[in-house]
Amino acid sequence: MEHFLSLADLAPEELRALLDLALDLKREWQSSGNRPLLQGKTLGMVFQKPSLRTRVSFEMGMIHLGGQALYLSPNEIQLGKRESVADVARVLSRYVDGIMARVFAHDHLLELARYSRVPVINGLSDYNHPCQGFTDFFTILEKKGRLKGLKLAYVGDGNNVATSLLFGATKLGVDFAIATPEGYGLPEEVWSLGEQFAAQSGSRLLRTTDPVEAVTDADVIYTDVWTSMGQEAEMEKRLRVFPPYQVNTRLVAQAKPDVIVMHCLPAHRGQEITDEVADGPHSVLFDQAENRMHAQKAILVRLLGEA
Ligand code: CP
Ligand code: NVA
Repeated sequence: MEHFLSLADLAPEELRALLDLALDLKREWQSSGNRPLLQGKTLGMVFQKPSLRTRVSFEMGMIHLGGQALYLSPNEIQLGKRESVADVARVLSRYVDGIMARVFAHDHLLELARYSRVPVINGLSDYNHPCQGFTDFFTILEKKGRLKGLKLAYVGDGNNVATSLLFGATKLGVDFAIATPEGYGLPEEVWSLGEQFAAQSGSRLLRTTDPVEAVTDADVIYTDVWTSMGQEAEMEKRLRVFPPYQVNTRLVAQAKPDVIVMHCLPAHRGQEITDEVADGPHSVLFDQAENRMHAQKAILVRLLGEA
């Protein structure tokens, strides 16, 4: 593993090994036994968009591991505007041991990785969100005790988070159903990659416009905002299209009785998810958010560590 840009790049056994490492690191943290596996290492964190979870979980993760993180706000670097993305990569990678970047265009991440001397981690792009996806399978494993054969139903916009969930599910043998409004599905090339991985892992796939069909028999229901960062101009239109895709108690009742409900957060309560569900007995939203820190520590150790 040279960089961490997409779950599509990882072999299933690499993903499983990373899940095991995350589990070990979380157990150590719970017994207050953080090991300084990244003593003296530094992570440069480049942000083109706002963040709570990604910024803080990476920063705290580096501290737990004995390293340090440097937050570079959207105004600071102005990726591709103040200077070329390639030059940012060339310069920043002379100062730090790893780069985490949250960008608009995924191509900018690919370019950072191409010109960087140090590993690059994708902290969300318009295309995908692999740190989130990886964390989500870690959380599902923790809650359900297994992954293979479970059914994950995603309801809402076929966006960056849905893309990483499809890749993770089909690498790990999780069945994946997605319900989106017409015209808001996953890109065709994303779906066909998922189909290729599913042919290897045995995951069953379903694409539908019917949320009830997607969540029937689901072990996990997942949703995300209807308007992602960068799509604000489409918000009004999306607010008219998406209401039938709200995750509410009526929809949750169609899934298995022990279904868990997930959301990467931030949530727009009252839109894609109701308060009743977000704060209800099926919700694992805040364990999921906490797990960003544990799961990403595994990614950091794997990429920046000595072993
Ligand atoms: N889920 C997630 O990536 O949250 P932030 O945008 O707050 O980092
Ligand atoms: N799909 C959302 C995820 C935020 C973590 C966005 O890109 O804004």
